[in-house]
Amino acid sequence: MKEGKGGKVWKGRFRTPLHPEALQFSSCLCVDRRLYKEDIEGSIAHVSMLAKQEILTRKEADKIVRALEQIEKEIESRKFKLDSPATSSDRFVAEDVHMAIEARLFKKIGPLAGKLHTARSRNDQVALDERLYLKRTSTEIMESIRSLQRAFVTVAEKFQDVLMPGYTHMQRAQPVLLAHHLLAYVYMLDRDHDRFRDCLKRIDASPLGAAALAGTSFPIDRKRTARMLGLSNIVYNSMDAVSDRDVQIEFLSACSITQMHLSRLAEELLLWSSQEWRFAEIAEEFTTGSSIMPQKRNPDIAELVRGKTGRVYGSLMGMLTMMKGLPLAYNRDLQEDKSFLFDAADTTTDSLRMCTLMMESIHFQSERFTKELRSDFLLATELADFLVRKGLPFRTAHACVGEAVALASDRRCSLSDLTLPEYRKISKLFDESLYKLLDPRTSIELKRSVGSTSPAEVKADIRGWRKRLW
Ligand code: ARG
Repeated sequence: MKEGKGGKVWKGRFRTPLHPEALQFSSCLCVDRRLYKEDIEGSIAHVSMLAKQEILTRKEADKIVRALEQIEKEIESRKFKLDSPATSSDRFVAEDVHMAIEARLFKKIGPLAGKLHTARSRNDQVALDERLYLKRTSTEIMESIRSLQRAFVTVAEKFQDVLMPGYTHMQRAQPVLLAHHLLAYVYMLDRDHDRFRDCLKRIDASPLGAAALAGTSFPIDRKRTARMLGLSNIVYNSMDAVSDRDVQIEFLSACSITQMHLSRLAEELLLWSSQEWRFAEIAEEFTTGSSIMPQKRNPDIAELVRGKTGRVYGSLMGMLTMMKGLPLAYNRDLQEDKSFLFDAADTTTDSLRMCTLMMESIHFQSERFTKELRSDFLLATELADFLVRKGLPFRTAHACVGEAVALASDRRCSLSDLTLPEYRKISKLFDESLYKLLDPRTSIELKRSVGSTSPAEVKADIRGWRKRLW
């Protein structure tokens, strides 16, 4: 048999080869070549199962497996380059990674290579490769999330006593502990972690054996291949197995939500490190200079985390749009899914790493926080609560303290500068003890509710996370 027949897998049916530009247009080798490990792993499991089921002889299977193992090494040592069609020096130009590997196999062992594809189609093959990739990548992303959580807990612990203004509507609202603010991110990231773990349950199934769409007449053992690949289940319905990409979409949404959280962190780092706020200093290693303004130190890395969030959302939207209205079963449109997956996974992984490095080296200017707390009305709610404890309905108390705030702001003074007679003019319920409340530390220490910014709660929370994450 000539090489051509082994290389070009559908050659028999055609008189004219694919137009070179059409091949260029349709090849995805430059994207999917990074699935070579998963592809070879899947092929080895498939061929071993074929031997076990006596569809191939043990000798044939062993020969194929050995050659596949060699190919993996050749790819790693760059002896065999998975180049895109335009640059391939090979006479045979591969359309995707599956065909490139099969062609190499043919070169090594001749027509026997053709037996690898018994009871299999690239449709179930690619679906399997992606699941193996997603399983590994989700696990890695989950570990990266844990590292970032640990960085947050370490900083929270280090700056445990620092108070800061908490914001709503970007306006100073009430004093909170910086640690409490930082721990909010630990919770967001924990849910991100759970989302990946949850989607792993559905990723963890093998589509192999679905063949093109209808299954196969060979007596294969789908569960055996799944087990060999460390997958807990099989995607039962063969048409579903080759045509859906919902687990990929779940993965992309988990990436998008994580990235959304990271972009919020990035934005806060940007605000906090600005000249206007000066709450935090991002380590020099994560900032750049300006080519024209010598004084500048730009927080590019945080900006890029914020900016790259758009790419991840784009991948999710791209994938959803590509899938919309696709009839069953496999359609070539599906080939586009890999660039979405890889781009989102890489961006999320890199952004998590950058945020971890920035959090590990961030410096908070505790004095700045204290200074900012002194100058305004963040404690007004404490005064309202004081009146409520004396029996006033909250809405009335709110109005009374509102009057005091208006008076102080007209006078450009703080709440503690108003005299007791002035307070008593607003409400007879005020007494001397109100002044004790006009201290940010008292305010947080008065907090009683579970999950509040009270130092006792925050301390216990840090202790809890320390136990969980280390
Ligand atoms: N490169 C293809 C993809 O990624 C592999 C499956 C091709 N199947 C086919 N029948 N042309 O989707």
